[in-house]
Amino acid sequence: MEFCNLTGKAILVTGASSGIGRQTAILVSRLGGRLFLTGRDEGKLKETMAELAGEGHQSHAADLTDEQQMNGLVKALPALNGLVHCAGIIGPTPAKFIRQENIDKLFRINFEVPVLLTGKVLVARRLENGSSIVFMSSIVTKSPYFGGALYAGAKAALEAYSATLALELVNRRIRSNILSAALVNTPLMTDPAREGNPEIVDDSIQRYLKKYPMGIGEPEDVASLIAFLLADESKWISGANIPLGAVIQ
Ligand SMILES: NC(=O)c1ccc[n+]([C@@H]2O[C@H](COP(=O)([O-])OP(=O)(O)OC[C@H]3O[C@@H](n4cnc5c(N)ncnc54)[C@H](OP(=O)(O)O)[C@@H]3O)[C@@H](O)[C@H]2O)c1
Repeated sequence: MEFCNLTGKAILVTGASSGIGRQTAILVSRLGGRLFLTGRDEGKLKETMAELAGEGHQSHAADLTDEQQMNGLVKALPALNGLVHCAGIIGPTPAKFIRQENIDKLFRINFEVPVLLTGKVLVARRLENGSSIVFMSSIVTKSPYFGGALYAGAKAALEAYSATLALELVNRRIRSNILSAALVNTPLMTDPAREGNPEIVDDSIQRYLKKYPMGIGEPEDVASLIAFLLADESKWISGANIPLGAVIQ
């Protein structure tokens, strides 16, 4: 028997135009899953589509901070067996400079969007019984970094939401889990044109590696755990917050 066979499962991945979401989509397609991809950038979504194995995948570009675009996405969805929330931004701001607009921006995409999208998908009855929902958090909720108060705050709120959701959906055997990843080599961390990029320089990378001796992860290292959480092999795991790339003390 093939381990983590996703044949017959339809999976929505947000943030599928880049990084962890893109790699998750590629792996899920290799395991037999049918993908419904979303991201803002249509061109980059097409690039992900071109890398998928198998057939029958769909994509739908949307800025999920726009309510109408989110509603349009939900309307276009098929019946799903999995929902993976990878859309997110970092936007570092030193605590004393935090203004309302910074709070709104960081909490909107990192907390409100996954919460509202999950609710809309559930109300629209797009998630089958026995489905799996996966959220992305970060080790920064346990281990602060300079300028990370809003990002960590939004992710910490999402961790609480995922655990609560797991409890509320247990009767339908719908599972909810969240991953707290250390630094992953994606455009979020490395592309200087990216929104709010902290411009990680050699010095801070060296300091980072001292703190996290498991080193910097690759999108594949996260995608493999997401694929496992989408598969029936993980059917007894819900409400978990799983650290990746760090020994949490
Ligand atoms: N990389 C890390 O070190 C790390 C560590 C821990 C957790 N995480 C989390 O993992 C998730 C994926 O991160 P990543 O590293 O893969 O980042 P990434 O490569 O920058 O990808 C982020 C994705 O989010 C999408 N997105 C951003 N704003 C959006 C919006 N308003 N509407 C719709 N989509 C939007 C982007 O779409 P477009 O490209 O189309 O604009 C892109 O597909 C994030 O939630 C992040 O917080 C990352």
